[in-house]
Amino acid sequence: MNPPAAVILAAGKSTRMKSELPKVLHPILGRPMIEYVLDAARAAHCQKLVVIVGHKADEVKAALAHHSDVEFALQADQKGTGHAVMMSAENLAEHDGPVLVLAGDTPLLKGTSLAKLLEIQQQNQAACVVGTATTKANEGLGRIVRDANGQFLRIVEQKDATPEEAAIEEINTGCFAFDGRQLFHALEKVKPDNSQAEYYLTDCAEILLKEGQTVLADPVFDIQEAMGVNTQEQLAEVAEILKQAPSE
Ligand code: UD1
Ligand code: MG
Repeated sequence: MNPPAAVILAAGKSTRMKSELPKVLHPILGRPMIEYVLDAARAAHCQKLVVIVGHKADEVKAALAHHSDVEFALQADQKGTGHAVMMSAENLAEHDGPVLVLAGDTPLLKGTSLAKLLEIQQQNQAACVVGTATTKANEGLGRIVRDANGQFLRIVEQKDATPEEAAIEEINTGCFAFDGRQLFHALEKVKPDNSQAEYYLTDCAEILLKEGQTVLADPVFDIQEAMGVNTQEQLAEVAEILKQAPSE
């Protein structure tokens, strides 16, 4: 089996930053924010790092060209997170081992938490482990639906949620540990049959579960660590946090 690989999503356009610079290249303490994500993945022993580029792809590639362990996959049109990961299928065609899926705009992720997510996946021989966190500020995030026994059932996006589901405070951080083969198997079955007509990566969890495979959702992250940067204000907030307590 291969050591873990990581797929880092960075193709989306971010209008809320109100800047010409691609979001993942915004500097935090002098370094592009995506480099913190790459470091966390490396700290969790990922050896192959595939960055999905799309919006201003050439600029992102140029800024990261000096990282010899980073490869790129192009997502020309942004058709959703599942479609984005699908673009790395060629890069990982020979990969037989775990795959972390992360977003390029979550610079507070800790390597120790990603290692824990991978450990849970390995110990349970799970097809998928969803990294969750709990927050009352769940606006816009995917909700974790569990059965009466607490077993994971599915992830529901806010735009597709019933009022009961919308009230759930356990959310999808967007960080997953997959068995690589199972990830690409499930992605082939994902359909854009939702309110946004997008290919949702999150559907892979339910698809694999319905096939009888082990799918878990584990609260390995605290909510701050999973925070995504969407505005200049959040960028400043993250810089302040990293100044005080550099990530492990
Ligand atoms: C996604 C999750 C949601 C989760 C949230 C955490 C899905 C369907 N939903 O929400 O459950 O709570 O992340 O932040 O996955 N991207 C691409 N290509 C695309 C679409 C997105 O590269 O076609 C990238 C974005 O640049 C970003 C990341 O994927 O880095 C997440 O996309 P975003 O649109 O922010 O997430 P949501 O769909 O809102
Ligand atoms: Mg979106």
